[in-house]
Amino acid sequence: MATIRDALRLGRAQLHESPSPALDARLLLEHVTARDHAYLVAHDDEPMPDDQSAEYHRLLDRAAAHEPIPYIVGHAPFLDLDFIVSPDVLIPRPETEQLVEIAIRWARERGRVKVVDVGTGSGCIAVSLARHLPEAEVVAVDISARALAVAGENIARHVPGRVHLVQGDLLGAIAPGQDLIVANLPYIAGQEWPTLPIGVKSYEPALALFGGPDGLNLFRVMLPQAAERLNLGGLLLLEIGYQQGDAVTSLARTSFPEAKISVEADFSDLDRIVVIRP
Ligand SMILES: C[S@@+](CC[C@H](N)C(=O)[O-])C[C@H]1O[C@@H](n2cnc3c(N)ncnc32)[C@H](O)[C@@H]1O
Repeated sequence: MATIRDALRLGRAQLHESPSPALDARLLLEHVTARDHAYLVAHDDEPMPDDQSAEYHRLLDRAAAHEPIPYIVGHAPFLDLDFIVSPDVLIPRPETEQLVEIAIRWARERGRVKVVDVGTGSGCIAVSLARHLPEAEVVAVDISARALAVAGENIARHVPGRVHLVQGDLLGAIAPGQDLIVANLPYIAGQEWPTLPIGVKSYEPALALFGGPDGLNLFRVMLPQAAERLNLGGLLLLEIGYQQGDAVTSLARTSFPEAKISVEADFSDLDRIVVIRP
C-alpha cells in the first residue's frame, strides 16, 4: 500500500508539466485525505487507504490534462480568505489582491462609503472589501447568473448579508452617488487566445476573459457609465492587461477630463491597475 510520501512523489512526477508540481500534488492530496499540509508532513509514512489512493489517481489524471487545481478541489485562496470556485467563475488571481489593497487603503478612513464591484465572478473583491471595510455598503454586479450563484455562496460563507448582488450589464443597473467603483473586467484581446495557457483557455469561462478584438470593449462602455455614477472625490480602480496602460488611460481621460489618472504596476513591475480620481 502506498504511503503519503509515495503519493506525493508520484504526483510530482505525473504533474511535471505544471509550473508547481509539488504544490499541485500536495493540494490534491490534502483534498482527497481531508488533511492539512502539517498533517501530511508529520505523517508521511502512513499508508493511504485504497479508496483515497484511487480517488487521488483520478484527480491527478484531471490535473495532468491541465484542469486547474482550484476547479478540481473547488476552492482557491484570495488575500486572507478561501473562496469557493467553479468553472462558472474566474479563478481569483494574486494580481487582483493589489487592487483590493489600494481600495481598502483609500476607503478605510472614509467610513460609510458606497462601493460597487463590477464583474464580481467568485465575489473575491466584493467579499474582501466588505470584510475589511465594516461600514461600507457593497454592491457586486455580474452579467452571469451562474457566477452570481457562486458569489452568493462566498458572501454567505464570509460576510453574510454584507454584499448586495445585482445581475446586470456593467453599471447599467447602478444609481449615481457611488464613492468607490472597482472592476476586474474581461480584458484579454481576441488575438491573445493562442498564447493563453491551455488550462485557462480550456477551462475558465470565456465570458470572464475576453474583451473583444483589442480587449478594451468593456472599458469603452463602462468608463462613461462610471463618470455619471462616481462622486467627486471618489475613486475608480480598473485592473488591466499589462500592455493596456496607455490605451485605458486615454479612454479614461475622455470620460474623466478633470481627473487625476495614474497606472500602478504589479509585483512583476507590469502595468496592472488604472487609478482614476475625479
Ligand atoms: C475577469 S472576471 C473577474 C472576476 C472577479 N472579479 C475576480 O477578480 O476574480 C470578469 C467577470 O466579469 C463578468 N462580466 C463579463 N461581462 C460583463 C458585463 N457586461 N457586465 C457585468 N459583468 C460582466 C464575467 O461574468 C466575470 O465574472
